[in-house]
Amino acid sequence: MAPIKTYQYGENAVSVFDSGKALTDAAADWIAQSALDVVRQETNFSLALSGGSTPVGVYKQLVSEKWLSRFPWAQTKFLFGDERYVPHNHAQSNFRMAMEAFLEIAPVNQEYIYPVPTHCEHPDDCAEIYERQLKEAMATDELPVIDLVLLGMGDDGHTASLFPGTDILQESESAVAAVYVDKLDSWRISMTFPTLNHARQVMVLVSGEAKSEVLAEVLLSQQQKYPIQLLHNPNGVNWFVDQAAASHLK
Ligand code: 6PG
Repeated sequence: MAPIKTYQYGENAVSVFDSGKALTDAAADWIAQSALDVVRQETNFSLALSGGSTPVGVYKQLVSEKWLSRFPWAQTKFLFGDERYVPHNHAQSNFRMAMEAFLEIAPVNQEYIYPVPTHCEHPDDCAEIYERQLKEAMATDELPVIDLVLLGMGDDGHTASLFPGTDILQESESAVAAVYVDKLDSWRISMTFPTLNHARQVMVLVSGEAKSEVLAEVLLSQQQKYPIQLLHNPNGVNWFVDQAAASHLK
């Protein structure tokens, strides 16, 4: 599924697709090809999953006839870029969404699914637990180097659970942190920018007209206004957007 248009804004490589479906199919192809490339050289492929609604189509496409028998499921470690601080069977849970969309269907190695714990008395405790689990999964005591981080973008320019005006944006040491999001009146646990910016590859999915103005500001403005502008990667940031979201790009 080729993009209908591409843009390059500094490190940001933007591929525009003519529909949300074309976007999610192309993103699934890119993830699958990345996974196959990595497992040719390494034992495992590590993938940090995004929450929200946009990735659901990507996850479903990965268990479609096109990829179900080709994706290296047993060698893939499934991490979560962020999580809502709710039980894993809660309607808002990113873990539940990912399990239902594809992880319950695909022949994964159950031991390679790493849900964010959300049972602690205080979210900070579970953030610490997840940081330990993440580093153990990635066999490191330092910031993990995740092969591919999949992200979305909110219409306020947040990504993962890195929301405007929250302290977690300044986190420079921890790989994972808990954050209370006033506008949502809820706790989240999220990978921090040090972790996201330490990944080998990062991709951002953006779909819909509602995000078009913020997306244009994020990509075109030199002003640092939105959290997602703190995303950087030496291999570039790969944006998969649909025409509606790209309507203000030039
Ligand atoms: C979450 C995600 C969040 C999401 C954006 C976009 O837990 O909700 O991590 O960062 O990617 O809010 O969400 P949509 O894809 O639903 O627009």
